[in-house]
Amino acid sequence: MSIRRLPLAACRSFLMCRPTHYAIAYEINPWMRLARPANHRRALSQWDRLYRTLTETLKVQVRLLPPAPGVPDLVFTANAGLVHGRTLIRSNFRHPQRRREEPLVERYFRREGFRIVRLPRRFNFEGEGDALWVGDTLVMGFRFRSDAPAHEHAARALDARVLPVELADQRFYHLDTCFCPLDAQTILWFPKAFDRYSRKVIEGLARTRIAVSERDAVRFACNAIVIGRSIVMQAGVSTTLKRALSRRGFRLYPVELSEFLKAGGAAKCLVLQLHCQPSARRS
Ligand code: ARG
Repeated sequence: MSIRRLPLAACRSFLMCRPTHYAIAYEINPWMRLARPANHRRALSQWDRLYRTLTETLKVQVRLLPPAPGVPDLVFTANAGLVHGRTLIRSNFRHPQRRREEPLVERYFRREGFRIVRLPRRFNFEGEGDALWVGDTLVMGFRFRSDAPAHEHAARALDARVLPVELADQRFYHLDTCFCPLDAQTILWFPKAFDRYSRKVIEGLARTRIAVSERDAVRFACNAIVIGRSIVMQAGVSTTLKRALSRRGFRLYPVELSEFLKAGGAAKCLVLQLHCQPSARRS
């Protein structure tokens, strides 16, 4: 039995969380520095701009996870878990600072009527941040945040083909910081963020691969939200990349997210896809 996926263009619903309590309150990745705090007012307006680009310009539905004090990274909803139909595979965060988000996420999804799948506690798993679909294959990143064995459990829970890939550069600690599926055959990526073998695996998976330069990679160009042929991406990427995307028929919607880059995240981390798959299973 397999789950048939709707085309990416049908993914029209996201979960976001307003940055009411967002701050750089600890250092758990190479981007975060307590000495470099986020400007709260600017963060709110940047987030709002992203929200309006999605809801007003691109007309996608956005649901809101209620903000909560004491969990400043809750805004990065991509890490809440992985949604498939009406199932949430809940994250098991690596860092204790983010583990406090787990019960909040679980309560929200339970209330919304989702089935919650928890992976064994000994395996870390950071949700869609480390798990992205390329066609029917779920590519899962491991090493810095998610553990390789979590992938087997996810494959079983989803009844899907899962391809684990190893991350190799601490700056790109989640898969979605260096890898972005654009459609079933096309990906955007920063090859050096992967180990040699995983690079090969990815090359075998996606026919068309747009490699970003290191300069674009550190601007989080790969951390983009793709809706059909529209791409919402951190502002300020190179003309070379802009051209490569437009040549392939993609339209770019740049959004400035500087305050979130300070926490090691950009556009994609701030959303979690909901309801992209039909809940009905077909054989
Ligand atoms: N400060 C957050 C962390 O280190 C950023 C999370 C970014 N999320 C992502 N999906 N890449 O956990």
